[in-house]
Amino acid sequence: MSDMIVVDYGSQYTFLLSRRIRELGVKCEVQHPNDIRISKNTVGIVLSGGPQSVYSEKAYQLNQKIIDSNLPILAICYGFQLISKYFNGKVEKHDHGEYGLMEVTLDNTDPVLDDIPKNIITWMSHGDSVTMLPEGFSQIAKSSSGIIAGAKKDNIYAFQFHPEVHHTQYGLNIIKNFLFKICKAKENWNLGEYSEELIQKLKKQIGNRKVIGGVSGGVDSTVAAYILKKAIGNNMIGIFVNHGLLRKNEENVVPGNLRKLGINLIEVDASEIFLQRLRGITEPEEKRKIIGETFIEVFEKEAKKIDSDYLLQGTIYSDVIESAASSKTSDKIKSHHNVGGLPERMNLKLIEPLRELFKDEVRELGIKMGIPWEYINRQPFPGPGLAIRIIGAVDERKVNILKEVDFIYRQTLKEFNIYKDIWQSFAVLLPVKSVGVKGDMRSYGYVAALRAVNSAEGMTASWYEIPYNVLREASSRITGKISEIGRVVYDITDKPPSTIEWE
Ligand code: XMP
Repeated sequence: MSDMIVVDYGSQYTFLLSRRIRELGVKCEVQHPNDIRISKNTVGIVLSGGPQSVYSEKAYQLNQKIIDSNLPILAICYGFQLISKYFNGKVEKHDHGEYGLMEVTLDNTDPVLDDIPKNIITWMSHGDSVTMLPEGFSQIAKSSSGIIAGAKKDNIYAFQFHPEVHHTQYGLNIIKNFLFKICKAKENWNLGEYSEELIQKLKKQIGNRKVIGGVSGGVDSTVAAYILKKAIGNNMIGIFVNHGLLRKNEENVVPGNLRKLGINLIEVDASEIFLQRLRGITEPEEKRKIIGETFIEVFEKEAKKIDSDYLLQGTIYSDVIESAASSKTSDKIKSHHNVGGLPERMNLKLIEPLRELFKDEVRELGIKMGIPWEYINRQPFPGPGLAIRIIGAVDERKVNILKEVDFIYRQTLKEFNIYKDIWQSFAVLLPVKSVGVKGDMRSYGYVAALRAVNSAEGMTASWYEIPYNVLREASSRITGKISEIGRVVYDITDKPPSTIEWE
């Protein structure tokens, strides 16, 4: 369906590029550099920025399919350097890169720069730069520090700055000119219409066969199951697995919510087996592996009772990119838990209705289709649940302590009306005990850590500045109500260097 392709070389701004394109009304798909799929509808290709140097061993090279397509190209930052290298220009490392705002002078006689002033402020973020353009390329932008900030040859446009970032003045105009003046793209993106088309397509594809899918109550699986329910009604069968590591009360609330949406649901309480298998396990990746495998086992047992042909997965764009990247180039930081492996084992075909969408588009789509706001705007919750928030060995007593701590913490944030402003907030139970004094008596209780972050899609995060009075209130409620907790600390670490979860 994509009319524009954004090739993701790993820039933190890639998602902004495709957002901008869709905001301008054009269909767009993000693709992995090693997996370029150009269709008859593709009218242009955007090459994103990226953290690597084009000369590093691990660096992505320019996929030949892009050049062979002869389609217009807009290359940004790393993309610019990649194009320059490909056509034998020179890319060099600078002693100190350029990061931040930079004035740029444009040669605005080219249609891609129509209606844009000659001097603009742009956002730069690069270590290497193009120091000599390849033959046939002409310079169309120069930074005040003297760096080549933009170049073109025929229908290839390349910029060192980031037009997709809102700090770049007229950046959206550059993208708009590229789309409509260079690529002659048509306005064809509308989320409402998209969902209607999707439902019709799924209806036709699936017919009267059955689809099963794990539903957790999270945004992605809820929206995905709801779309399928709209397409095939009760032949969409959701399976809700309670692994005993959910937040307090979730196992009571979530299935009810899903049923209110009309989703045909099977509930499985597997908490005992999960806890049993986790006994004595302290290593985070091992915990994840056990939970992942047990989940598949439990799910498979239920699924086998249903004669289905398809497995629904709530995969969204960031999962596609993450798994493509982690399988090919980057290091595995944490293995994320899903039902991988099941489709082949059970001979099921995969249905992934959300794989082209971003998290906020999934939310918007959910709201447009009539899913209540509070189901859609839930904080993310990891598949392995509280097991990766209990540092060290997990047992039922610790799970219950953490459920209470987490509940009181989140309740306090809600009362002070800041919960809705935070991307993710939760408590962690440490395997450390510390001395305290409670009612003139020496006490010796566990340490609980509180965490709250704001984040862009979970890839990076900054710790949230909860007001001191709220922290004080949460701390005193937690130590007052939960005798096992002797001390409360607040986590003030960004991602990177830490991750959002503690394990
Ligand atoms: P990290 O800890 O990697 O988390 O910075 C980023 C986001 O992903 C969630 N997370 C997971 N989600 N399975 C999941 O489904 C997992 O194993 C997992 N580990 C982390 C985390 O809650 C945060 O939102």
